Parts: sequence; C-alpha cells; structure tokens
Amino acid sequence: MPESTETQPAPARVAYKVRRDPCGIVIFGATGDLTARKLLPALYDLACEDQLPDNFYVLGVARRPLSNDSFREKMRTAVAAHSRFGAPESERWKSFARRLHYQPLDASQPDAYARLRESLHGLDRENHTAGNHLFYLSVAPSLYASIVEQLGASGLARQRDRGRRWTRIIIEKPFGHDLASARDLDDRVQQVFNEEQVYRIDHYLGKETVQNLAVFRFANGIFEPIWNRNYVDHVQITVAEEIGVGERAGYYDQSGALRDMVQNHLLQLLCLVAMEPPAAFEAGPMRREKLKVLQSVRPFLRRELERCAVRGQYAPGTMQGQSVAGYREENGVGANSSTETFAALRFEIDNWRWAGVPFYLRTGKRMTARRSEITIQFRAAPLQLFACTAMQPCQPNLLTLRIQPDEGMGLQVITKTPGLEVIGRSVQMDFSYGADFKSHTPSAYETLLLDSLEGDAMLFADGDWIKSAWQLVTPILEAWAEEQPRNFPNYPAGSWGPAEAESLLSREGRQWHTR
Ligand code: BG6
Repeated sequence: MPESTETQPAPARVAYKVRRDPCGIVIFGATGDLTARKLLPALYDLACEDQLPDNFYVLGVARRPLSNDSFREKMRTAVAAHSRFGAPESERWKSFARRLHYQPLDASQPDAYARLRESLHGLDRENHTAGNHLFYLSVAPSLYASIVEQLGASGLARQRDRGRRWTRIIIEKPFGHDLASARDLDDRVQQVFNEEQVYRIDHYLGKETVQNLAVFRFANGIFEPIWNRNYVDHVQITVAEEIGVGERAGYYDQSGALRDMVQNHLLQLLCLVAMEPPAAFEAGPMRREKLKVLQSVRPFLRRELERCAVRGQYAPGTMQGQSVAGYREENGVGANSSTETFAALRFEIDNWRWAGVPFYLRTGKRMTARRSEITIQFRAAPLQLFACTAMQPCQPNLLTLRIQPDEGMGLQVITKTPGLEVIGRSVQMDFSYGADFKSHTPSAYETLLLDSLEGDAMLFADGDWIKSAWQLVTPILEAWAEEQPRNFPNYPAGSWGPAEAESLLSREGRQWHTR
C-alpha cells in the first residue's frame, strides 16, 4: 500500500498527572459539615483507589475538644454514610484511620499557630512527608483572611528549598460576598501566598460532566464549525435543585441564588460553553480563555434589568405528593425575607463568535426536579420543506449536555415518520454515561483534592476570574438590594420558578427546554 501523504495530526499537548508528593493535609473546620459529607469521604475514596501518596497524613483542626480516637470515630461514621465504596471494611479503614489526627485549636487566636507549627513538624517527621503541606479552609468565610494572615505570620505559608517543599492552600467558596470583599480577600491572600499556591474551589469544575464539556468541545472536530452565531440560535443553562435551604439558612439568607450559584457555578458553565479553544489543556491557557469570555459579556444596565433579570422565592407547595414549607417558613429564615431562591438571567456576549446570541441562565431551589443541563438550540433550516404534524410540530435541533442526574448528552433531530406520507418528527439521539461507562465516577472533591496534591490548578478559579464574575453581577445585586421585591414569594415549591422567568424567553419567541 502506498504510504499516505496526508499530514499526520500533531500529537495533542496534554498535561499528564505526574507527581504525588508525600504531604500533610490540614483541614480547618474539621468538625464541620463539608468535612464529614465531602472531604473525608473523598480522601477515603482516593485511598481506596490507591491514588494518595504513600506517605500522607490528615490533621483536622477545629475548636471542639476531641481526641484523635473520637475524631476517627466521627469520620468513620461520615465515610460510611458518604463514601462511594459504602461502609469501610475494617482492615482498609484501620490503615486509613491511622493517618487521621486531630488538634483542638481556635483559628482566630494568633498563639494557636505556634502550636500548629509544632504539631506539623512532629507529624512530618513521623510520616516522612518531607514538609509539604496542603491547607484546606473549610470554615466560615469571615475567617479566611485571618487564617491566611496567621499562616503567613507563623511562617507556615512559606515554600522551602526553592519550592521543592511546597505549601498550598485551598479556599472554599464563597470567595467574597461582593466585588469589594472579593478584592480585599484576594489582596490579603496575595500578600501571603503566590498565585500558584492558591486553589480557589468551585466544585462544579470537578464534576465529570463539566470536565467533559471541554473534552466534548475540543476533542470533536465536527461541532467547532457550527459553535457560533452563524448556527446557534441561543444557549440555555439550567441548574435546578429539588432541595430547599435545609439547615443552611444562616448562610443562605445572607447570600441568595445570585451569589450562591450564578456568580460561580453557572458563570463557569457559561465560560466553558462560550470560550475559544485554549492553546493547551492546562491551567494558564484555560483560565485566560475563560476570563476573556467574562470580559466580553455585555454589562448589565440598571435601566434594562427588568428585561434581563428575574428573581424568585419559593412559597409552600407540593413535591412528590408531600407538602413542603415555603422559604419564609424555613428554620432560621425571617418572615419577611427578601432573599431570592431563584434567579434567571439573559446574557449577551459581545465578541465575534457570539454577538447576538442570548445565553439564558436559571437556577433555583425547590424546583420540580433536580436537573442541571446545558442546551444549545441551533438555528432552524432556512426553509421547511416537510410538514410536521399538528400534534408534534417540528422542534429545532437541540444539543443537550446533561450535567446531573442521568449524566450524558442528547441531540434532537428531525426524521421522517414511518408511513406513506412525508411527515417530519423530532427524535432524540442519546448517550448516557451510566449505560456506556460502567466504571465508578469520582466525586468532584476527589478530582479537585487530587489535582491540588499534584499542583494542577486547571479546575480551580483564579482571582481575576472571580473578581470579573463579581463585577458582572454587581449591578443586579445592587438593584435587588435597593428595591424590595413586591411579589415574594412568587413560585410554589415544586414548580419551574416564577412566571416572569418564562416571559424572559417567551417575549423573544423562545421557551425553556428543561422540564
Ligand atoms: C453549592 C451551593 O455551592 O452548590 C448550594 O452553596 C447548592 O446551595 C450546591 O445546593 C449544589 O451543588 P450540587 O453539586 O448538588 O449541584
């Protein structure tokens, strides 16, 4: 056979996961909910998958006086409830639990850090972890800056041996409460840590299906030519939750859907859909492209907000046959609270790829179903040559990327209905992760913890992105704070949100597809 003269594609430039250095992981807020529900189960699952370094330890710190043994017992219960491997089997648990330690410590007290430093020296020696430390801030956000500063003052933030002994810090969301507080926090963090030491978590970026967005877009050549204003009519992003505010009213009532979900998770999704192909699948190039998207989003104008931003709050309602309370009746929520539990927004991205293509985003609590998905609606064919039945009018071509649950993707296309007449009908081509890949999916926290141990910041938000995201939502935050909503609560629990969210699309001849 003659040798092909076709040019071979250049090998993809891929960032391989290489280093798992020995290290100590220090969790501030070790008796909290996040540690029990997500962090410890994720670390245990990684240990079961043999993904953690041979030498590591976890030091939990919090104010509550606990012994190592009682901390381990608490964590065993947490792991049994939340690990994807189920209740830990005895030998496996023993070998994991001996790495767990606890130190009662009031992180707001400067003298606590000398004691912490001493404990770390001891644990480093015992566990041969070479002085590498990963600090995890899983505490109230009001403590972030002071912990960072105390770590700096006590010398614990320093990297030694020209970075060979590393120190990294993971900061949970929310990173700031608004633009001013995010700037302030970022400045204070940057005074102590270099940017490459800082990992700002947005757990959506660790979700398999969210990572798949980049792979889907940039590993398949066929979509790129149509991924733009010439072919896309509009984009919808829905992150709907069934849960209400639960026991988190203390935090949520000060926050609301815009701060809690849109400023971070939904804008990250928007960036992944809208970004240009990065020069490499690595932190720097990915972050640069995502930031460019935010910089191109048309700023919201106060006088136009009515037409592009809708807020809602759930009233009592029925979900799966059960009556559920309205937001204002929830534990810890004031009877006149004006906090929004739902937000729907219309974005425009003023760049060459997306000019004129609206991006509709919505998120809410106590909605009909838990459903997070992205739908790309393509423009209609220029001419309808075929009839569609009155019962089933021809739907547009839709590409749906299902983030959760039922992870997968679907493409809606029009086909001929079998029969003697030529009648079109929409059908769904479907791919489901569950059916096609039988393997266990790691949790977002597993992925993110492992990446931070490897020094790979690609799936973390950088300071500039976070500040741009705050800047974008600021006019809405300000307007909503100044003008009390007159119609709250305005959607029943168990619905798809307020009627105004429907009008946001219907007045432009469109409708939400996720139902
Ligand atoms: C968190 C929000 O960041 O994300 C919560 O604070 C929300 O209010 C949660 O419920 C949703 O995450 P997930 O992974 O359940 O979609």
